[in-house]
Amino acid sequence: MAVRKTIQVVPRARRTLTSLRNLGYDLRHAVADIVDNSVSAGATTVKVTVHFDGTRSWIRISDNGRGMNAETLTEAFRYGSEREYNRTELGRFGFGLKSASTSQCRRVTVVSRADAPGAALEARQLDLDHIDQVDKWEIFDLAPDELPEPTRSLLEGTAGTVVLWEGLDRVLRFQDPFGGWAKRQLISHAEDIDEHLGMVFHRFLAGEVADREPLRITVNGTPVESWDPFCRSESSTSALQEEDVEVPSQGGNGIVHLSPFVLPNQNHFSSQAAWRRASGPKSWNRQQGFYIYRADRLIQSGGWCRLRAIDEHAKLARISLEFFPELDSAFGVNVAKASVTLPEELRQELTPLVKNWGRVADAVYRQKQQPPSPPPRRTKPSGVTSASPAPTVRTSTGGNDPSFEHVSSSKPATSSPTLVNHRDLGATSRASDAAPLSARQALEAAAAQVGESEALNRITSALRTMSPEMAHGLGW
Ligand SMILES: Nc1ncnc2c1ncn2[C@@H]1O[C@H](COP(=O)(O)OP(=O)(O)OP(=O)(O)O)[C@@H](O)[C@H]1O
Ligand SMILES: [Mg+2]
Repeated sequence: MAVRKTIQVVPRARRTLTSLRNLGYDLRHAVADIVDNSVSAGATTVKVTVHFDGTRSWIRISDNGRGMNAETLTEAFRYGSEREYNRTELGRFGFGLKSASTSQCRRVTVVSRADAPGAALEARQLDLDHIDQVDKWEIFDLAPDELPEPTRSLLEGTAGTVVLWEGLDRVLRFQDPFGGWAKRQLISHAEDIDEHLGMVFHRFLAGEVADREPLRITVNGTPVESWDPFCRSESSTSALQEEDVEVPSQGGNGIVHLSPFVLPNQNHFSSQAAWRRASGPKSWNRQQGFYIYRADRLIQSGGWCRLRAIDEHAKLARISLEFFPELDSAFGVNVAKASVTLPEELRQELTPLVKNWGRVADAVYRQKQQPPSPPPRRTKPSGVTSASPAPTVRTSTGGNDPSFEHVSSSKPATSSPTLVNHRDLGATSRASDAAPLSARQALEAAAAQVGESEALNRITSALRTMSPEMAHGLGW
């Protein structure tokens, strides 16, 4: 075959880099993308600092991960940098460090020391003003005395990486960048970052990720608290039947794991403060729906992905939907990793499930009375992942009636989801141990109908003392 003539067409640095600033990051997502790298580098501590100084304000993200040597650090600045990823890693595109940083600032400096005996401190800087001038893909190799002040004396004798953003033109757009208004805005950005990191990395912060030490993140010195969307520490949170759905993707199938939860009615929360905290960054109604995790990191929080409408009556339903990077192409994961599209095969499986979860959430939403005291524990909870009922496995066939009767499972199929109170999810508990919601619901509705809810409360309270098994069986 004749060799075809080729011409190399190298992208223009100035225009390409300007366009790549607009990949759809906002500040919170951009910071989270940098923290992804720290997590991938095995960091156990990540410190985010947001510093106000007018046009000289900066944001710094430093970690104690394995760091980078000179070669890796230079490669890290290449758009589309090459490397092997293992299955549970958060990175994928070789873009995040550059695209997240330049989405917010004009100058990004990375200082790093590799986790190797005698490793030197290395520093590189990408400066958009310089690129504008020379129109070349160039970065600076900084000598120790050229390090920007906020990166100095941070990695003395220890491995880790510091990412510094200066020239925050996308964060501070004020006529008076040194004014009080600008300062308040930056403080409020720091609060948003704190809240966002607490949500998207909640499994890492809470030490729920297999084979990893708990992650500690601070924002301006204050530890970020993990925010559990499912309020699993609330004794009245209910875990519904888990499901596994097999989804085809390029290069093989992958499993999507679903863990549905129905949060307690406002009256059943342990306190009003807990209720308010459970409301979440976008507040109750917009926090209902799917929580989509990719390799344990939350990338989409709330919303029903067009499978149903946002509805006050369904606001207590929150569903964990997890997948691993082998399904990235099926979910259309993009560089910013801020949202996904559900694969069509999965949507078909989810349609009847969403309907059922909505029904249960609606029933809990309508409960009125506060149980006087929590029922006695029968089994000790042992963590949600291991303690939840064994998932039902669904094979995504694209069939047209994915109803409960068609579940391929060793469990008996049910016509409505089985409600399992989270507090009673011991290692041995099964979905079938718990009564269907309707027994308790029917009694509560009947009591409310005749104005005897208080009496029912007293009866159930006595029943819990005299016959805890029976009370539990009825759903209290
Ligand atoms: N904090 C860090 N510690 C150690 N290595 C890092 C760190 N940040 C970046 N790197 C290295 O730089 C590379 C490029 O990072 P970048 O975020 O641009 O891409 P990625 O993480 O590989 O993929 P993605 O575009 O999905 O984020 C990483 O693959 C990693 O090798
Ligand atoms: Mg990355």
